[in-house]
Amino acid sequence: MPNETSTPAPRLQQFIAQLSDTIARSADEAALLAGATPLLQALVAHDDWLPQALAQPHPAHYQQFLLHADPAGRFSVVSFVWGPGQGTPIHDHTVWGLIGMLRGTEEGQHFARDAEGRWRPEGPPQALHPGEVQAVSPSVGDVHRVRNLLADQVSISIHVYGADIGKVQRHVFTEDGGVKPFVSGYANVTP
Ligand code: FE2
Repeated sequence: MPNETSTPAPRLQQFIAQLSDTIARSADEAALLAGATPLLQALVAHDDWLPQALAQPHPAHYQQFLLHADPAGRFSVVSFVWGPGQGTPIHDHTVWGLIGMLRGTEEGQHFARDAEGRWRPEGPPQALHPGEVQAVSPSVGDVHRVRNLLADQVSISIHVYGADIGKVQRHVFTEDGGVKPFVSGYANVTP
């Protein structure tokens, strides 16, 4: 575990404790997402707690820092740091996830397969602003593409997933239907 996560900031510590309780008492994913969304909204309502070391952009690609891995493997909390103009390919998660915008602005575009198996944008792109939270999961829509909407600033979102997401086998897709397996890992954890 990285040193920065051994004594998390009080806001993050409170979030982790409340999320842990919410997961323990949620009967299903819908209840869990409904209970966890306001907790993440409260966490990203204040941009004063993320250590600088876990907010660093990489010049060539976006990067993810592990903030907390639940000892029981039920969830992980990650900072997702976008350099100016950086974005993801089309990808899935395979588990529930919540994205809370902490700093800057990102844009998410959901995708769905057409009859020929190609991925097509589903609905309009959605901008996420500080304090706002969106959900992904196989049941609410799991395939999307995300980018930093700001061409000249770093953007940071805080992600929560229903697994240790850096170890999860998932997929990158091309619009023509191609699939490539990937495991995202963490910038601050040696595999
Ligand atoms: Fe994603």
